[in-house]
Amino acid sequence: MATTGLVVDRGLEGVVVGSTLLSNVEGQIGRLTYRGYDIDDLAPNATFEEVTHLLLYGHLPTAEELESLKREIGARRMIPEPLINSMQRVPKTAWPMDVLRTVTSGLALFSPVNQRGEHVSDVHSAIELIAKMPTILAAWDRIRRGLEPIEPRTDLSHAANFLYMRTGKVPSDIEEDALDTYFVLLADHSYNASTFSARVTASTRSDIYAAITAALATLEGDLHGGAASAAFNTLLEVGTKDRAETYVREVLARGERIMGMGHREYKVRDPRARHLEAMAKQLSAYRGDSRWYDIARSLEDASNKVLQEEKPGKKIYANVDFYTAPVLADLAIAGDEFTCLFACARTAGWTAHVLEQLSDNRLIRPQATYVGPAPGPFVPISDRRAQAIGA
Ligand code: ACO
Repeated sequence: MATTGLVVDRGLEGVVVGSTLLSNVEGQIGRLTYRGYDIDDLAPNATFEEVTHLLLYGHLPTAEELESLKREIGARRMIPEPLINSMQRVPKTAWPMDVLRTVTSGLALFSPVNQRGEHVSDVHSAIELIAKMPTILAAWDRIRRGLEPIEPRTDLSHAANFLYMRTGKVPSDIEEDALDTYFVLLADHSYNASTFSARVTASTRSDIYAAITAALATLEGDLHGGAASAAFNTLLEVGTKDRAETYVREVLARGERIMGMGHREYKVRDPRARHLEAMAKQLSAYRGDSRWYDIARSLEDASNKVLQEEKPGKKIYANVDFYTAPVLADLAIAGDEFTCLFACARTAGWTAHVLEQLSDNRLIRPQATYVGPAPGPFVPISDRRAQAIGA
């Protein structure tokens, strides 16, 4: 077995691969800041559009700057007709993340290219992606239900417009506020797997559309953003709040994981969970139905208790995806779309990271320790004998 003497760090845990001005995750104390602003301050006080401005332009906007950004987002919401038409031909059973990833990639087909076939990757193409992704998702939600897509409005906020495009009704302030807070909390999270993917893609001098498509593909797995949809399935499986502890014990006995619990960085409860829990509670009071909140609350208590017993010292607490489930369920969003909602929020961070990468680029190209056979002679096909696969 050949070795190079390099240190192998599976999962890059604790490995620093770059720097960023955009966000800081302090996992031991449970603090998340965007450009120095604590999400505890941003969540109740700033809108997603303000946070988008903060991430893309480097500072919180003045009233005029905010108006200008809102105008640009509103003006860029429509998606090209051929993309809507192509969605009409997709099987209605298609997984929403597959549709979102494919159609987002397709946006590049309608974006101008220079003589070398390159798209412009700048703050405006970033806003284009941020503006259009919710339109794709809302259109797909209606198409798969056999309904006509509803055109976006330019006068509504990012959150309100998304909910409007699903139903044709302008949401209440509470609903708009809940989704807006969710978007704020999910907007960025340093070098998580999908953001890293976007930066790796951008580092090859690929364009922003390709980088965001790569990020979408990486988000989908249930060890990352896919946990949001998986966490909702958990609420369905638990069914009633009094079954939470039995459920947790059954899952752990099968050697499986509780979705929405645990985090590579946070060794305390994810700071975003507190805000989302408050939103879930508020929404359930507004709807007069606390089923999802109640199940989530008792599931978190049961998980904390049983994980403490079964995996002492592992520090596995609720992450952002945990209370995403009751919030989005109470907004009548289908469980299989939760990861797509995550993507709509995170596109602000992804695009900001792509621009940051391009502003001081160096190709990201790690190494691997080779553990295969030592160099040997080539075997002509007439001398080869059948071997077991992998041998
Ligand atoms: N349920 C049960 N056990 C868990 C969980 C969980 N949710 N999370 C971690 N563990 C256990 C593991 O089984 C392992 O136990 P062992 O040492 O006895 O084998 C130990 O904790 C360490 O697990 P790792 O996978 O090494 O920890 P890592 O830091 O890589 O885990 C991760 C982070 C992948 C998020 C993990 O906690 C997990 O799988 N959670 C469930 C999926 C999830 O919620 N993902 C979303 C993460 S947040 C986000 O991406 C937005």
